Amino acid sequence: MDVKLGRVVITGAAGRIGPTVREGLREDADHLVLVDTADIQPEDGAETAVEADIGDRAALCEAFRGADAVVHLAAITDEAGFDDLLDANVRGTLNVLEAARRAGVPRVVLFSSNRVTGNYPIHHHVFPDEPPRPDGFYGVTKVAAEALGQLYADTFGLEVVALRVGSFEEQPTETRHLATWLSPRDCVGFVRAAITAPNVNFVAAYAVSGNARRFWDLSVGESELGYRPVDDASVYAGDFPDDDPFWHGGPQGGDFAGPEALLPHLGE
Ligand SMILES: NC(=O)c1ccc[n+]([C@@H]2O[C@H](COP(=O)([O-])OP(=O)(O)OC[C@H]3O[C@@H](n4cnc5c(N)ncnc54)[C@H](O)[C@@H]3O)[C@@H](O)[C@H]2O)c1
Repeated sequence: MDVKLGRVVITGAAGRIGPTVREGLREDADHLVLVDTADIQPEDGAETAVEADIGDRAALCEAFRGADAVVHLAAITDEAGFDDLLDANVRGTLNVLEAARRAGVPRVVLFSSNRVTGNYPIHHHVFPDEPPRPDGFYGVTKVAAEALGQLYADTFGLEVVALRVGSFEEQPTETRHLATWLSPRDCVGFVRAAITAPNVNFVAAYAVSGNARRFWDLSVGESELGYRPVDDASVYAGDFPDDDPFWHGGPQGGDFAGPEALLPHLGE
């Protein structure tokens, strides 16, 4: 199929997921603009690298000019001090949305996280419109980032897709990943769908492979974005014990949830 993606900005392009997204979009994009605080080597003619912090709204406005979509990955991506998370994940997302509005970019794809609902128990099948139950401060900031996306969609008509990413890995490396794995191929599939889906106002969808043991509903991704994942972590099930205590109960966030995970970040 002939898919044109136009000019696409990727924030956080130098991180773990960025290179996979970059590779997966490059062929069908007119141009990629790669924003990160880390140094990136752009491909001649096809890419531009912009060394900028998402705290710098003016730099984002400049980088976003003429873009058709922004894929926003840059973040603090695990539990951390609340103020740092607020700056990077909430104020940073606000800057991205506001810069997109000012630069006239029609669509923003926010990388949210499964951890916005990480405190639901593992036996609960979660739909994206159920109330958030974040498993830590990181999840709280992703809830706020999604809410900012909804605000910009409702107020300004910005098209916003929040992808609640599972566990992005080449292949599952722990028992929990049998439920939460997002393969690189499905990651690219979800991002491409989030950029190209028609008639988007605000969509929040889980981005997880079609794992038989997943906790999350995929029907919104299919109906609103037109993407059905192709991989399934079940093919790796033999690598992990069937009787792992993880399956006995507890929060979907696993070791990311609970007092031991949060207490170190509560300060004095
Ligand atoms: N990796 C996963 O399994 C996973 C799961 C759920 C959600 N996510 C989300 O996906 C996105 C990408 O995750 P990742 O694993 O690639 O993260 P990562 O930590 O590997 O990469 C993040 C990138 O963002 C950049 N960055 C951080 N703060 C910045 C700032 N203030 N300004 C500009 N650049 C900044 C970093 O330099 C880095 O290159 C994040 O939003 C994360 O919350 C990831």
